[in-house]
Amino acid sequence: MQIAQRMRPLQANVFADMDRAKAAARAAGKSIIDLSLGSSDLPTPPHVLDAIAAALPDPSTHGYCLFSGTQDFRQAAARWYTDKFGVSVNPETEVLLLIGSQEGTAHLPLAILNPGDFALLMDPGYPSHAGGVYLANGQIYPMPLLAENGFLPRLEDIPGAVLEQSRLMVLSYPHNPTTAMASLAFWREAVAFCQRHNLVLAHDFPYADLTFTGKPAISALQADPNKTCTIEFFSMSKSYSMGGFRVAYAIGNAELITALRQVKASVDFNQYPGIQRGAIAALSGPQDTVHQMIATFRQRRDTAIAALERVGWAVPVPEATMYIWARLPERFADCSEAFCLRLVEQTGVALAPGAGFGKAGEGYVRIALVHPPEVLEQAIAKIADFLG
Ligand SMILES: Cc1ncc(COP(=O)(O)O)c(C=O)c1O
Repeated sequence: MQIAQRMRPLQANVFADMDRAKAAARAAGKSIIDLSLGSSDLPTPPHVLDAIAAALPDPSTHGYCLFSGTQDFRQAAARWYTDKFGVSVNPETEVLLLIGSQEGTAHLPLAILNPGDFALLMDPGYPSHAGGVYLANGQIYPMPLLAENGFLPRLEDIPGAVLEQSRLMVLSYPHNPTTAMASLAFWREAVAFCQRHNLVLAHDFPYADLTFTGKPAISALQADPNKTCTIEFFSMSKSYSMGGFRVAYAIGNAELITALRQVKASVDFNQYPGIQRGAIAALSGPQDTVHQMIATFRQRRDTAIAALERVGWAVPVPEATMYIWARLPERFADCSEAFCLRLVEQTGVALAPGAGFGKAGEGYVRIALVHPPEVLEQAIAKIADFLG
């Protein structure tokens, strides 16, 4: 048997090491506080669950769901988008249902890259962005995101020779893991850059709502309202706590939507229509649970930041996302993975090592605020003992 060479970069993975370390700590009797995964612990809103439950006994939801069957969902997503961001969207040609935004961003390179083409990715960045490029036999040019640049890429630093072979730039703000936000001015610069260099701009946007600024984050399509080169990926996982249901959507340039749809047509038959009905209820129904979700993460953020400060670990206050991106003390500056492995082994507290998100993530850890405030305080007390 032969496993394809393109699988090689997918086989070694910092997060798989962390999973093994968590399992070993659990087996050794440690009680685990897992702050390493960005999986929301909040329940899905009841009206969404009701819509899904009501669909279950309906036989019309039990068969394959073809593209025509996703029309109600596409219309709900288009309305939701236009109400929030003020850019009009054609639900027939510019919206595509996805089985999670990860599925969409990982399949997109297959639709765009020829073997050997470059994709410009954020470093640190979400691992499936790189995974999709590897599966498409593309090459990755990592754009380092540094604190001194507000964790935004310096587009002018990308070498001309790389640009000539590049077809795709992937950005994602509010950013996992650094929590950085991007302004409309930055998006205008990014869109102009992609237009100039004939690049597809993919914006992974699962934290659209999860900001603490009182308003949603900026959509890349606000800087490209004619959808010349941009495709944006939205997720139900964070705004509506539906991560396990695997439902998301892409909005953007019609040619890109068609190409991604063609890739998916070879792969899947769309998400279960009952879950689509739940997602429609979420997008079209009352949004108070979204505001509650934001308030919950804000309170957790404030508690965790205050607890970290009390133990002498000052970190920037995130304006968005469900994470804290914390620079490690100097003695751990180049060993975030070793730090996290030892921390979980000795204390049961699991954090995500910055190196797992890319080279430029080294020296940091990501703390996911996926437990109530009192648990976060316990975890930080244990981290303080470990550091002390
Ligand atoms: C940047 C980013 N993209 C995608 C995802 C996954 O979203 P989905 O559940 O829609 O696949 C996450 C989840 O943490 C994420 O942080």
